[in-house]
Amino acid sequence: MKVEFSAFPRAFSGNVAAFVGADRQLQATAKAIDAASGGAIVRAIEASRFTGAKSTTLSVLGQAGYGRLMLLGVGKARELDARTAEALGGLVAAEANGAGLKAVTIVVDPIKGNRVPPAQVAAHIALGAQLRAYRFDKYKTKQKPEQKPTLEQLTIVLAGPAEARRAWAALEPVVESVFFTRDLVSEPANVLYPVEFARRARQQLTKVGVKVEILDEAAMKKLGMNVLLAVGQGSERESQLLIMSWMNGPKTQPPVALVGKGVCFDTGGISIKPAAGMEDMKWDMGGAGAVTGAMRLLAARKAKANVIGICALVENMPDGNAQRPGDVWTSLSGQTVEVINTDAEGRLILCDAMWYVQDKYKPQAMVELSTLTGAIIVSLGHERAGLFSNNTPLSNRLRAAGSEIGEKLWRMPLGPKYDKLIDSDIADMKNVGNGRDGGSITAAQFLQRFVQDGVAWAHLDIAGMAWGKGNETTPKGATAFGVRLLDKWIANTYER
Ligand code: BES
Ligand code: MN
Ligand code: ZN
Repeated sequence: MKVEFSAFPRAFSGNVAAFVGADRQLQATAKAIDAASGGAIVRAIEASRFTGAKSTTLSVLGQAGYGRLMLLGVGKARELDARTAEALGGLVAAEANGAGLKAVTIVVDPIKGNRVPPAQVAAHIALGAQLRAYRFDKYKTKQKPEQKPTLEQLTIVLAGPAEARRAWAALEPVVESVFFTRDLVSEPANVLYPVEFARRARQQLTKVGVKVEILDEAAMKKLGMNVLLAVGQGSERESQLLIMSWMNGPKTQPPVALVGKGVCFDTGGISIKPAAGMEDMKWDMGGAGAVTGAMRLLAARKAKANVIGICALVENMPDGNAQRPGDVWTSLSGQTVEVINTDAEGRLILCDAMWYVQDKYKPQAMVELSTLTGAIIVSLGHERAGLFSNNTPLSNRLRAAGSEIGEKLWRMPLGPKYDKLIDSDIADMKNVGNGRDGGSITAAQFLQRFVQDGVAWAHLDIAGMAWGKGNETTPKGATAFGVRLLDKWIANTYER
């Protein structure tokens, strides 16, 4: 889909989308079209339940020389913000593709008293439309023409298109990076295994200037990353540690570390999962996908920050060499871990990756993302990711960045009573608590035992967020949750 910004034309034609505020307040363009069509718009609204409420639409067909007139509910017009603009762009893209339209014009009427300038509204409409129009259809060989997306041209009309073009140029890397992550997460596990993930990351990220280093099993063995390696030892596929560095900030500023769980497939291992729904576990590298996409985005927009991204890439399989429940390993940190349940593998790979990145890069902050527990989905559903942290300012900045771009977090508790639940009879700790109670919290407690003194740490359990049923700006499937959040957090914290 091509996006273009242009000034107000003398007259509109074709498929046009125009703003309507709450309580049926037609904005300038809708009003003009209504007048020119002898009141067709007002009549259509009266015949419907459309009120102009935020993120709702009403389409009027074949009136007064137009194809499809889409009325876009902006809610209280003065409060039209970037998030609503994205939702509207997404709704238009979805409707256009559903209706077989090739070109649509969206009119950004100036709104008096709105804090968000029209150029930003226009750029975020474009962003929402692009994000929603994502497809992963490379394995569909028999699509009929009517099943394929049709929208080729999105024209956004406003006073001052040049400014909108500049705003859009700043957002375009977001689209490319989110798509990169969605592609990684969507690929089936026979195609995307650790070596292939690392290969694609190297290929795409070196292009934008990220330094990429990949450690293989021999290198990790030498370092002593036994707990990470134990997870992958039941797989034919070799485990990999992907290390990405973007050091474009002040020389003296210690980096921030982003850590991602990259379980390319999670069968559960010897503690094998039930068959129903196991295919979803190709998405168990959503954290690694988000970290990799965020690194791409930071580099593509030349972020003035020092950032290390590290992804532990493994496949959790149950072959004859697989680790057993009861096995005890010595981690890179020197602490020993008893494996009670081989399906609690995320924390096992993360503990060594976290220790490595802290030892080697001395980050001031470390934010880790993982599809870590089913328990967080029981707690928060698919609306918010769980946030666990040892640092309230960091938590607050992450939450603020998330609200700003629409990836919401909810802070969860940590504490010594929870920590005690993972004490082991034979080793320093075990990898699960007793039973399922507080499962996402005991998982976070495990990770916290691998946070070094003085490091501000946050763990985001994104199990409920990495893929979804679809919403205004995300089609069904991989969401790339975390890419924009991490980028915004770094922009807000380290670049001003
Ligand atoms: N990858 C899963 C967590 C998960 C479950 C993510 C459902 C997305 C949807 C993780 O490795 C896992 O298996 N966790 C176990 C932990 C348990 C064995 C303590 C779980 O949540 O059941
Ligand atoms: Mn598991
Ligand atoms: Zn897993």
